[in-house]
Amino acid sequence: MSDGGTARVGASGREGARRTAEGLEHLSGFGNEHSSEAIPGALPEGRNSPQRAPFGLYAEQLSGSAFTEPRAENRRSWLYRIRPSAAHPAFTRTGNGALRTAPFTQTVPDPNRLRWDPLPEPAEGTDFLAGLWTLGGNGDVAQRTGMAVHLYHATASMDRVFSDADGELLIVPERGGLLLRTEFGLLRVEPGHIALMPRGVRFRVDLLDESARGYVCENYGAPFRLPDLGPIGANGLANARDFRAPVAAFEDVGRPVEVVNKFCGNLWSATYDHSPLDVVAWHGNHVPYAYDLRRFNVMGTISYDHPDPSIFTVLTSPSDTPGVAGADFVVFAPRWLVGEDTFRPPYFHRNVMSEYMGLIEGAYDAKAEGFVPGGGSLHNMMSAHGPDRDTFEKASAAELRPQKIDDGLAFMFETRWPVSLTPQAARAEHLQPGYDDVWHGIERTFRPLH
Ligand SMILES: [Fe+2]
Repeated sequence: MSDGGTARVGASGREGARRTAEGLEHLSGFGNEHSSEAIPGALPEGRNSPQRAPFGLYAEQLSGSAFTEPRAENRRSWLYRIRPSAAHPAFTRTGNGALRTAPFTQTVPDPNRLRWDPLPEPAEGTDFLAGLWTLGGNGDVAQRTGMAVHLYHATASMDRVFSDADGELLIVPERGGLLLRTEFGLLRVEPGHIALMPRGVRFRVDLLDESARGYVCENYGAPFRLPDLGPIGANGLANARDFRAPVAAFEDVGRPVEVVNKFCGNLWSATYDHSPLDVVAWHGNHVPYAYDLRRFNVMGTISYDHPDPSIFTVLTSPSDTPGVAGADFVVFAPRWLVGEDTFRPPYFHRNVMSEYMGLIEGAYDAKAEGFVPGGGSLHNMMSAHGPDRDTFEKASAAELRPQKIDDGLAFMFETRWPVSLTPQAARAEHLQPGYDDVWHGIERTFRPLH
């Protein structure tokens, strides 16, 4: 994107690049070493930091991991930009809006099952950043542990540029498409897609429709990665090749641009005399991604029983305990149910992990009503939940033919720590009263023989 907003993509950027249905070029893969240049020759050959970078660009490393982390965990990108990121005035505090950060200590952790309707309509002119509203979370941002659950509802494109030093942002659009203008180039996502914005990467969000609504998992911990597949084998679940990284595109503008930085829970603002989205070429593995959840290769039973929902994990942020995620992103995508002599919807359960669920479209097979797109539910550590009364009765009596579930797209942010609410979530008008009632009236059907 030059001054006129047109993406400029160099010849080398096209090497290996593919074009999406929306016309944006992209690079394919997840976690691999990508490279792209908007102008041929802008990417130095054979070294990262030559004495003079091509075309008078400044070379700069963006580190997403400690320099010394093992190679498999190591994340960094080299950016070749019109001005170095260091060339900016001081940041000063600006309002946090409805954005909150861990540790979440303002409410007493709540063991109840909770469910919310969608956020109320925001004021006109609310951009993505102003439209972020924090439901709750866990951990401690300064310790780089835990996560936050945010929702957003925006009615305007961003003029300003945002970056989050506190964590990476997993954006789950539910209504309205987004064009993400990032330091690395452009990504377009629609409802049913996700975007993953790494820690510290600057970006701006343009709305592609009148308004935009969705969910965000802000992950303070280890970056999301694809889960190990174990006996599943070398393929399946979210396939790496289906992730889209942008190709280099830059803004070369001399007008004042507000840049907002989220740092240890607060928003800080500075007005630059240029756009920091001025990266002409880059290479590395600390890059933003988009992914179409409908590409998820769903695994499930072909014999009996409902598998544990970990089989639906798209991305996982491991903690320091093997197998125990700081945050998992799980999708309940269209799939066939064929289990014999099986209660096919999600089973009743209590889970040491805590579960926030959202709905992107349609319905979810464990709930007859009340769980709506844009809303969400929280089942905290060890809270008892599962199918509601109507779903249980229907599924217990159903004739078990092969059945396609294709009327909904639900997801879960699952985390090892309980989710504490913000006061605004605990007292929200859109918090549904009486969610417990969906399990009310489940009959005693125990009939002992004697
Ligand atoms: Fe659950």
